[in-house]
Amino acid sequence: MTDKKTGMAKGLANYGDAGFSLFLRKAFIKAMGYSDDALDRPVIGITNTYSGFNACHRNVPDIIEAVKRGVMLAGGLPIEFPIVSIHEAFSHPTSMFLRNLMSMDTEEMVRAQPMDASVLIGGCDKTVPALLMGAASADIPSILTVTGPMITGSHRGERLGACTDCRRLWGQHRAGEIDEREIEEINGKLAPGAGTCMVMGTASTMALVSEAMGMMLPGGASIPAVHADRLRHAEATGARAVELAAEGLKPTEIMTKESMANAVRVLQAVGGSTNGIVHLAAIAGRLGFDLDMEDLDRMGAETPVLVDLKPSGSHYMEDLFKAGGLTTVLREIEHMMNTDCVTVSGKTLAENIAEAPASWPQDVVRSLDNPIHSGGGLRRLRGNLAPGGAIIKQAAATEELLQHTGPAVVFSSLADMAERLDSPELDVMPDSVLVLQNAGPKGAPGMPEAGYIPIPKKLAAQGVKDMVRISDARMSGTAFGSIVLHISPEAAVGGPLGLVQDGDLVKLDVAAGTIDVLLSEDELQQRKAVWKAPEHIGAKRGYEKLYFDEVLQAEDGCDFNFLRAHPRDKPVS
Ligand code: FES
Ligand code: MG
Repeated sequence: MTDKKTGMAKGLANYGDAGFSLFLRKAFIKAMGYSDDALDRPVIGITNTYSGFNACHRNVPDIIEAVKRGVMLAGGLPIEFPIVSIHEAFSHPTSMFLRNLMSMDTEEMVRAQPMDASVLIGGCDKTVPALLMGAASADIPSILTVTGPMITGSHRGERLGACTDCRRLWGQHRAGEIDEREIEEINGKLAPGAGTCMVMGTASTMALVSEAMGMMLPGGASIPAVHADRLRHAEATGARAVELAAEGLKPTEIMTKESMANAVRVLQAVGGSTNGIVHLAAIAGRLGFDLDMEDLDRMGAETPVLVDLKPSGSHYMEDLFKAGGLTTVLREIEHMMNTDCVTVSGKTLAENIAEAPASWPQDVVRSLDNPIHSGGGLRRLRGNLAPGGAIIKQAAATEELLQHTGPAVVFSSLADMAERLDSPELDVMPDSVLVLQNAGPKGAPGMPEAGYIPIPKKLAAQGVKDMVRISDARMSGTAFGSIVLHISPEAAVGGPLGLVQDGDLVKLDVAAGTIDVLLSEDELQQRKAVWKAPEHIGAKRGYEKLYFDEVLQAEDGCDFNFLRAHPRDKPVS
């Protein structure tokens, strides 16, 4: 393979002798035991995102095996290579902090090593966006497959899944309804095997929107991790990668403004995770355009939530699989989609839908006239608290709280919240608005999924199940409640959220799309004049320094400025 810029063999261009470069590269690759016949074929790189810390990727070795089989059956040479693996639960300070590192790893390894096409194996929340961000930037023919959702667990006859039920049952434990012994028992049942969280969390969301965007072969998003179809999909992915190498169809030809709009449409229709918006914004930035937030709202108004999955509904991903997967959803909203977008199958979305097996009666994907939630999943908010925007997952909120004004109870940081939230002295009422500051991209850092502020213990004990909660943090797609997230600019860079004080009235009006603090502009200016940035912002060395220097706000997907196709020329805030 030759480098496009220099015309030299990739990797050894510095020798200045193309013949010698090739000779040397061949000598080294032959040390792997490949024959001339094997080397005289399209090379398909396969990202190995397995890690002993990453249960969501536990089946990656099996998937690689199947991808390799597909590549070889189609006449290519599969070569796997390692990529950073990120699991949600084992990524200090947060997985979001590391997502861009994984995207850089993907971009550079795909670009550096001599491959004609790449197969990207994602799964856990941050891995699919990181792989797609990297692939968009490297822009060699690439195809995505995922590890697939976990099957459900069972506790005393009740079906359980990570991690909507983790939160619900922990909430019951906090309220004293489930004792120590039973909660320990439940702990062993929530994640019963390989694969990703099986509710409509970020992993499921990103898998579905990636399939909708055309980066994955049809059907791939919902096949359970342990199902034989998962391996057949992987095999087909490998075979297709060989064709992609010959055709030269690139990620930038598949991930376009039009297919990104399809992704946003599907995000709304499936009741997807709020994190989906952040990741799609980051991918769009790599492609050279901004995610159209007007579009998000317009599509939200037009597209009801159709998929009855937890946390907005009641089913799990394996049920969506049995109901026909994404295709069943696409058939409901096909008239609203850009169906002439080309996909990684080489066919258009319309062709993929037409070729999929016929649909059958099922109760997981609703029809447009009988939705789970009529208003669409996600709504963007603006107002004097969020000049750069904020997000609420209205489908997972309490109807009566969608229009609410209440006095703020302010926590200045995660540590402050942990210290005081459950104190009997906390001055909080059911109609209070819980405000968490300094939990954004720089504030925490790493924009943790802390937006799901627990109900203060004394209110939980009284039976309070939901309250308006606002922050610059993110929230797990598996969580639920009347929760305003991604407030931008974040408190730690001087955003108005950081100026809110106990007792200020905060007004949420989801119908109007607004989030405001009822203070005059003068008052806000006066508070801003004496505001001080938290001391921990910034770092002296390492990846942490890169992160603090370059990370952008939520509306830019928290990507690093220099990784965007067109870096922002405004100072990084
Ligand atoms: Fe990996 Fe939920 S922890 S998908
Ligand atoms: Mg998650």
